Amino acid sequence: MAKLSFPEGFIWGSATSALQIEGATAEDGRGPSVWDEFCRSHPEKIYEGASPEPACGHYRRWREDVALIRELGHNGYRLSISWPRLFPGGSARLNEPGAAFYDRLFDALLAAGIEPNVTLYHWDLPQELGEKGGWENPDTPLRFADYASACFRRYGDRVKLWSTLNEPAWTALNGYVTGLHPPCRLRDYSGALRAAQGLLRGHALAGAACARELPGVKAGIVLNMSRIHPATPSADDAAAAALADGMINRWFSDGVIKGRFPEDIRNYYAKAGLLPEGLEETEALLRAAPLGFLGVNYYYPHYASADAKDTNFHLNISGRADEDCQFSVKGLFRFVKNPRGRFTRWGWEIDPEGLHDLLLRVHETSPGLPIYVTENGLGRVEELAGGIVDDQERIDFVREHLRSVHRAIAAGADVRGYYMWSLMDNFSWINGYKKRYGFLYVDRATLDRHKKQSALWFREAALANAI
Ligand code: BG6
Repeated sequence: MAKLSFPEGFIWGSATSALQIEGATAEDGRGPSVWDEFCRSHPEKIYEGASPEPACGHYRRWREDVALIRELGHNGYRLSISWPRLFPGGSARLNEPGAAFYDRLFDALLAAGIEPNVTLYHWDLPQELGEKGGWENPDTPLRFADYASACFRRYGDRVKLWSTLNEPAWTALNGYVTGLHPPCRLRDYSGALRAAQGLLRGHALAGAACARELPGVKAGIVLNMSRIHPATPSADDAAAAALADGMINRWFSDGVIKGRFPEDIRNYYAKAGLLPEGLEETEALLRAAPLGFLGVNYYYPHYASADAKDTNFHLNISGRADEDCQFSVKGLFRFVKNPRGRFTRWGWEIDPEGLHDLLLRVHETSPGLPIYVTENGLGRVEELAGGIVDDQERIDFVREHLRSVHRAIAAGADVRGYYMWSLMDNFSWINGYKKRYGFLYVDRATLDRHKKQSALWFREAALANAI
């Protein structure tokens, strides 16, 4: 088959987040985040009671990691800054040793020819702000904007690609509806909408601060997006799919792209008495914040059925075949398994076509908006055998998704890069450490890194700018 070439300057990289790789959670003045506290107080909710300590020990091994990224031929790397490392407790006082860590990291990345794409918030809210109401507290977006401004001032001479938030929909949904993430609230729909509003205000204020502090630089945001199909051709299932799509995708994508929440979902929430106060003000803030790009995190599609007799949320965190994912909101929609689908061990459907469709949808909603695939990857159970990890399955996964990206570019979408999740096996939130995503295998006993076969395959693709 002829090679598919990507546009000149296309970014070939991988992604991580601070909490999932750094470890050193109490070093050099870092304060606790809501995730440190959640893991400490609710080990039963996390596979094998794992915690983000030591994660991958990246805080100490960052030099080696930058050298590895370079060896892997990447020209970009997506990472996040830890808010509680820079401003422990969410305070206004900068913690210099924490800030200096990222100075060293950015300098080393640039010296190695690797462009950083930096996310300011990847779920590690300072614990003290969590205790004061987290993203529901109207003060939190203001604190976030201050933290963001400090980062723009300090690192803006070196970092040109900034994302404000990672997956605000997931923070709101899992924090307040499914109860799977901190603050572990169950079925608190109005809390979820208040938190979503706080997150989007934080994004807007940080976006405006970026334009002010760094003329010519416009921050982006990273959204988790899924194609949501009706489970059957029935009108009821079509309506259920449209509703789920509006709540999970469009509320956020229309919010940040158009500065206007979708009318149908807004009416729906208004009727249910769930709309938070101040929505117009939030829209005005969003319209005043120039959006530099959209980061799309894509893993799987959903199939929605209107037949939702109860409310039930469950994620497969063990990777066992007898554990099913469930997501059902009584009377609204229930996600069902695609009978024709291919699935990972954790029950996530593999559907590269979905990425193509989402990229085109973003392009059609906002022609010309730069897009990055900020996450896409495959979680596996893996072992090191004779010094290698044979992950042909991951090579196939990444290749198929890159083909979709290529087709979306050919159809006009301005996709500028692809960051595979993840650079290395890491702390996979409530899945603990069993679910491995990396190009680099991390030995849990020694934290030593080993290149997987997929890393070598991706290196060739990156160097050729083609697959
Ligand atoms: C995304 C997150 O939702 O999915 C990452 O931004 C995360 O942080 C990735 O690790 C994969 O999800 P999980 O739960 O399998 O680790």
